[in-house]
Amino acid sequence: MPCRGLCIALLAGVLSGSAAGGPVGDLVGQGVVRWYADEEARTLELPSFAVVKPLEPQGPVPGDFPVQVVFGRDGQRWTASIAIEEGTSLYGTGEVAGQLLRNGRVTECWNTDAYGYKDDTKSLYTSQPWVLAVRADGTAFGVLADTTYRCEIDLRDGIVFRAEGPEQPVIVIERDSPQEVMQALGELTGTITLPPKWAIGYHQCRYSYDPDARVREIAEGFRSRDIPADVIWMDIDYMDGYRCFTFDTKDFPDPAELNEWLATQGFHNVWMIDPGIKLESGYFVYDQGTAADVWTKTADGQTYQGEVWPGMCVFPDYTNADVRQWWARLYDDFMANGISGVWNDMNEPAVFNTPSKTMPEDNWHRADAEFGGPGPHARFHNVYGMLMVQSTREGVMEANPGKRPFVLSRANYLGGHRFAATWTGDNSANWYHVDVSVPMTLNLSLSGQPFCGPDIGGFAGNGDGQMFARWIGFGALFPFSRGHTAKGNIDKEPWAFGPEVEATARRALERRYRLIPYLYTLFADAAGAGMPIVRPTLFADPKDPALRSEDDSFLLGGDVLVVAQMQPARDRVVVMPRPIDGVAWREFDFEGFDGRRDSEDPDQARLFARPGSIIPSGPVMEYVDEKPLDPLTLIVCLDAQGKARGRLYEDAGEGWAYLDGEYLETTYEATRIDGEVVVRVAAEQGRMQRTDRALRVRVLLPEGSEASGQGRDGTDVHVKLK
Ligand code: NOJ
Repeated sequence: MPCRGLCIALLAGVLSGSAAGGPVGDLVGQGVVRWYADEEARTLELPSFAVVKPLEPQGPVPGDFPVQVVFGRDGQRWTASIAIEEGTSLYGTGEVAGQLLRNGRVTECWNTDAYGYKDDTKSLYTSQPWVLAVRADGTAFGVLADTTYRCEIDLRDGIVFRAEGPEQPVIVIERDSPQEVMQALGELTGTITLPPKWAIGYHQCRYSYDPDARVREIAEGFRSRDIPADVIWMDIDYMDGYRCFTFDTKDFPDPAELNEWLATQGFHNVWMIDPGIKLESGYFVYDQGTAADVWTKTADGQTYQGEVWPGMCVFPDYTNADVRQWWARLYDDFMANGISGVWNDMNEPAVFNTPSKTMPEDNWHRADAEFGGPGPHARFHNVYGMLMVQSTREGVMEANPGKRPFVLSRANYLGGHRFAATWTGDNSANWYHVDVSVPMTLNLSLSGQPFCGPDIGGFAGNGDGQMFARWIGFGALFPFSRGHTAKGNIDKEPWAFGPEVEATARRALERRYRLIPYLYTLFADAAGAGMPIVRPTLFADPKDPALRSEDDSFLLGGDVLVVAQMQPARDRVVVMPRPIDGVAWREFDFEGFDGRRDSEDPDQARLFARPGSIIPSGPVMEYVDEKPLDPLTLIVCLDAQGKARGRLYEDAGEGWAYLDGEYLETTYEATRIDGEVVVRVAAEQGRMQRTDRALRVRVLLPEGSEASGQGRDGTDVHVKLK
């Protein structure tokens, strides 16, 4: 650990914060230090968009704090450098294409409309100036450059941030494991709120289902084929000439009636809203906004105009509270059409008629004092989308106060997970993008955005049935699971590639729905403790160097390992976590719709349970909560001591009563005693009544065999081991 001793000595004089010109730091939480370049930099500090609560200094930096930040300059940019010990693996850096392990990579935090992005595309749609570092011994730290300005993260030699604008603080979290760093990041930047349960079902989208009859056809397509799905999406073509908050009178004459019909089929709906507002007098949003003077200005105080889908547009200045309030109110009438969720797209903001693909950096925002007062777009660019979705979410919640909001955003910033889920933008239907779906979802998750996933099937281009089968085989297990594709492409619904691929897609989605009890519990954990829903396999054993770059597999929560089939040749060797005290992770599967084990389908991901875990699962449903969770099936994988534990979180799936205790969280425990396994409720929390239901237990045994038993939930169930 070359830096620890040396740097402690070098920095001894500056830790107190008194030395002129050197870095100064404050302890702002246990194992959390905020560093400034020097005393002057403290006075330049802008309000943080990432950190939820002000961080109060709690004392000087402990002399043995292991991570030191060296500040400097590189031309116009300020820099912050952190040396890393040999064997340290770097992750996070937000939404990035390419492999999981980020050592050697350079990313630029600058929200960009990156259609067709590739491995070397430096900036994608969201910005998370954050790095998670895992040392060889499994201890870990995280570094957050707390700036909204354009910021390069260079991981070619240690960790170097190079950012424009005034020098901002760098926050370091030191912990014993990467899991603890992620929890601490959740404490700093906040957690998601629990989404409505339907939002963790499968989503079907395309650019665009049009007219409304096609939307009905798609919904019927799922139901008539018994393929589970919860949500159908309306992309921009539902609008009247791409005017936000309007509906095309010919193709979508009665959106309320359409949504009502979808609800009768067990579907929720999501409709798109962009920030670019058509510049056109007589269009109510433009007229209202102009009267209220809400538009972003140019450097010389004119209303900024830029081209997007509807032609010339103006752009709300979401940095201003009055503007956000106005924008939120636009959702009153919109949501009254029975709209369940909102998709905010193009909010980098994307602008077509300019080489930079966005508005000029010297555009002027009339930001509130809480955001540091007025300033140039350069300061607010990376939070433009985040502020848009903050406002959208408020509007959606005020329109439907009894419901939980669901908003999807393309652009975002570190901490913006509090307002919206995200997806990995306009990927392409090729094997590279199949491949990077897993590491992209993982690095976003490791950057504080737990509710995320790719366009399954690929946005740009067609691909083929084999590609789609593989993609949905593991994509069905991502936190946000949505099929989508661009205009002009072939159909990509689960049945579009013929019966064989349809069967694979149905199996994959049936698995998701069987695992919804587990997945919903993970969402509750993400909302509570800030843990990512999908995690890199290395989290199974952070000390194992062999897992550090494993990105063909991922962990769903802490207990399920998903091994994806990513390449046509199936020639990848996946590194499995080591056995725990001699017990290996055990493979499990489900019986598919046709009576076959789903693991017999070579396009499905393989599933493994952690020794010591209990995974709750339920019956297949067409949509979440279509039926009661009966029977509840617990999949038990005993550890070397013959024990296992697992949790199940349940609530109404909608509304806010859970915040007042209307939920049930059960901890189940399994113990091997002589020739049987006894499963019992070890603890329960919450006021919700346990329903009277059957409890099935599957105990996973070596070599793929199982023992099973059943009883009633809430009472002990005994499973005889043969
Ligand atoms: C760009 C988005 O990334 C894509 O998902 C969407 O279909 C198009 N805009 C059209 O709205």
